[in-house]
Amino acid sequence: MRFDLAAYKESTDRLDVGGIDFDAFHDQPLAPEHLRCLRYMHDVELHTSCYLRNLLNTRAHHDPEITTFLTLWNHEELWHGEALARVLAAHDEPGGPDRVASMRRRLGWRITASPLLWMGFSAMTRHFLAIHMTFGVVNEWTTQAGYVRLAAEARHPVLDELLRRIMRQEGTHIAFYRSHAVERLEASERAQRTTRRAVRALWSPVGASVMPEAETRHLVRTLFSGGDGRAVADRIDRRVDALPGLAGLDLMAGALARYA
Ligand SMILES: [Fe+2]
Ligand SMILES: [Fe+2]
Repeated sequence: MRFDLAAYKESTDRLDVGGIDFDAFHDQPLAPEHLRCLRYMHDVELHTSCYLRNLLNTRAHHDPEITTFLTLWNHEELWHGEALARVLAAHDEPGGPDRVASMRRRLGWRITASPLLWMGFSAMTRHFLAIHMTFGVVNEWTTQAGYVRLAAEARHPVLDELLRRIMRQEGTHIAFYRSHAVERLEASERAQRTTRRAVRALWSPVGASVMPEAETRHLVRTLFSGGDGRAVADRIDRRVDALPGLAGLDLMAGALARYA
């Protein structure tokens, strides 16, 4: 079923944090290993505007439906990051602009050059949008799974409710990317082959290309390496299998082997 963009335009909004008791973290803080995962998620959510900057230099810009979605997506992800910054603040940790600015300084020339790389990559293949939509859905699936796993591990009622609200919006992002990925992959076997090669060569867990490797290792190990984590990772791989032409990539199994 095609994603209903008109309905999304009507329903999109900044994350509702009404009634979320951020002060509760003062008395009942998160364990250090879970707080470390949350820092990662905060940084990656607030990196969305950098992805948007790159994507607007690609073929995605030719498609007004996609640019409309990306605009709303970026807005929602910003507010996910802002909400996670409030959790960090409740633990007396810096979040928001301070962390974001230092992350961008740390990335240095890589972040300066990245729009050129994306522009070049998009010019090289006319199946760029199939690749982009596929990366989009895989990344949203794994983000969603990360929140599910963090909520299950941390067992904190306030975090639980906050992540539940974030995940509801991630669900809409999944629906958009999935419907567009399937449509583009179904339309052409060449798109399937090119996407398969690109995903196999270039995909890594969300944030792995911009976060220090030790942080990615910690996140993958903490959330996906135990029995419950592996089951969730396996479920993602089976979902990828169901995308046209993408069976057998075992992306999460590969990520576990590499990072955990
Ligand atoms: Fe998000
Ligand atoms: Fe998302």
